[in-house]
Amino acid sequence: GKGEYDHYMLKEIHTQPTALSNTIEGRVEDGDVAFEDLPAGTFSDVDTVQFVACGTSYHAAMYGAQLLRSAGVRTDVVRASEYASKTGPVDDATLVVAVTQSGETADTLDAVRKATDRGARSLAVTNVVGSTAAREADDAVYIRAGPEVGVAATKTFSSQAVTLALLSQRIAADVPEAAAAADRETMLEDLTDLPEHVETVLETTDAEGIAREFHDSDSYFFIGNGLGHPVALEGALKFKEITYEHAEGFAAGELKHGPLALVTDETPVFAVATSGDDEKTKTNAIEAQTRGAPIVAVCPDDHPLVDVAEVHLSIPDTHPVWAGLLANVQLQLVSYHAADLLERPIDKPRNLAKSVTVE
Ligand code: M6R
Repeated sequence: GKGEYDHYMLKEIHTQPTALSNTIEGRVEDGDVAFEDLPAGTFSDVDTVQFVACGTSYHAAMYGAQLLRSAGVRTDVVRASEYASKTGPVDDATLVVAVTQSGETADTLDAVRKATDRGARSLAVTNVVGSTAAREADDAVYIRAGPEVGVAATKTFSSQAVTLALLSQRIAADVPEAAAAADRETMLEDLTDLPEHVETVLETTDAEGIAREFHDSDSYFFIGNGLGHPVALEGALKFKEITYEHAEGFAAGELKHGPLALVTDETPVFAVATSGDDEKTKTNAIEAQTRGAPIVAVCPDDHPLVDVAEVHLSIPDTHPVWAGLLANVQLQLVSYHAADLLERPIDKPRNLAKSVTVE
């Protein structure tokens, strides 16, 4: 049940420290990444990785894809429903990675079948043991987030992103000419602190106050660059899904190529930043601010964005790979509280289903 919480979504947001501990358990050993069923050498024949996913899982896939690409692996990330028309060459050196919480999303299953028909090898990254994706794929990795009841995916996004970050290092270590991240050791050290850092965010957040301040705005924009980009997209998806308000996420640098026309003093801009990104998020937040938009900085305390923004949602200082996930927890809470103030049916938004089994 929901226990002490008003909604499953809030409970699942608060379960993230435990969920993440389970996700990580046994997967970092002697300063390196280990997956029980995927020993060293598993991916030596792979030269290209294609991620396929939908919705929130697509945002987690973007996260993983960026890390894999920066480790030197040829990587593509395709919305599963667009796989037939948007994918490049596929052969037996292609690994298709299906990211799907439920393991039952029709578009994602279809994309994997199309890839494997063309010779690709497949790997399912899923939450549900025995799901169709897990059964059909050559290999399966479980994110171990525990059952998620709320239609809005929360803890499963965090556990997917962590699993994919670890998987990116496992794959890169095998693929010829790629290499796991040079700062892998600090990254993995900081990962062990992630559950505690999420706890800090949950205990100290002022997301409710910010939701109260802004919940009757015209529109909501979310921007970020690098790993902040998928977090911005995820922040906007969650917001529209449960508040029914208009929200959009953009790569920070894209704001000035069109969306800026929508920016007014009635459109708060949530700017996601980590210590690992460049100046783009800050300079583009300033562009929006000049047009009157209130800026909510979601970043560590020492980030230059803090000096610019009207409001700040603080995240603990950690490796940039994990900072994006802490920013996401803040945004989950903003969406939750805004939806609650607007009296929306948070766990079962209109028109949506937890798992989409039609194409
Ligand atoms: O079960 P899946 O991860 O394959 O589901 C994919 C999407 O339908 C899902 O993430 C959807 O976008 C969520 N409702 C978002 O909160």
